[in-house]
Amino acid sequence: MGKLDGKVCIVTGAARGIGAAIARAFHEEGATVVMTDLLEDQLHALAAELGQIAHLQDVAHEAGWQALVAQVEADFGRLDVLVNNAGFGWLRKVTQIALADWRRLMAVNLDGMFLGMKHAIPLMERSGGGAIVNMSSMYGTVGNSGTAAYCASKGGVTMLTKAVALECAEAGTGIRVNSIHPGYVRTPSVAETLNDEQQEALRILHPLGRLADPMEIARGVVFLASADASFMTGAELAVDGGFTAR
Ligand SMILES: NC(=O)c1ccc[n+]([C@@H]2O[C@H](COP(=O)([O-])OP(=O)(O)OC[C@H]3O[C@@H](n4cnc5c(N)ncnc54)[C@H](O)[C@@H]3O)[C@@H](O)[C@H]2O)c1
Repeated sequence: MGKLDGKVCIVTGAARGIGAAIARAFHEEGATVVMTDLLEDQLHALAAELGQIAHLQDVAHEAGWQALVAQVEADFGRLDVLVNNAGFGWLRKVTQIALADWRRLMAVNLDGMFLGMKHAIPLMERSGGGAIVNMSSMYGTVGNSGTAAYCASKGGVTMLTKAVALECAEAGTGIRVNSIHPGYVRTPSVAETLNDEQQEALRILHPLGRLADPMEIARGVVFLASADASFMTGAELAVDGGFTAR
């Protein structure tokens, strides 16, 4: 028996990296997974491999969220889990960030999670409750030189999560809302933005002495999405190899 048997789930940014691992883990736990992303070919290939649903989406666009949630309701009549995973970052000092680049990062990393919750919560409520997992980062709890925009967006995700968790609890919706905070993970985005030397320097900052595998983060998301975490809401789950324990 799977931990997510019969659950209808949306996972954003599911074409590759951590999101792809979450889609795979959810599939293995018995969920129906609506996988969304901008990368059409990779998204369709993975969804076809898993026998799950692919849905093209830019999480920063509100109309797209309305269409996605309406489609899920029409197809399945319910929504049990939302994983707001899509996000990105770059290395740039605050004095070197163009305002347009700052705004696009915030639009994806923060607006995308706000819009996802805004439009998913009413359907989850009509479904009798559910779970939302927002992908923050260890940089949503501690600062880092060179990633000011990313830290600001992920810190925003941390607090957005707590505020929405309280709203959902107070309204008696049966919806739990938590954030997960990975350390560095071996994903395409890390391979694209950090060379081997930079990755080695980061590796030794993790007390466990390595970067994470995407599936190690996905297992934490399964936990938060499942009944195993039934008394958790507004919480931050660190999956960072001890990075923030120092
Ligand atoms: N890799 C890490 O070390 C790490 C650490 C902590 C947190 N995170 C967070 O985990 C999440 C996934 O990161 P990853 O490393 O797997 O990145 P990735 O780039 O490998 O995968 C991210 C996916 O999100 C998609 N995406 C990006 N913008 C989108 C948008 N506007 N609409 C829809 N889809 C979009 C991309 O196309 C991609 O498929 C991000 O929120 C990231 O900030 C990553």
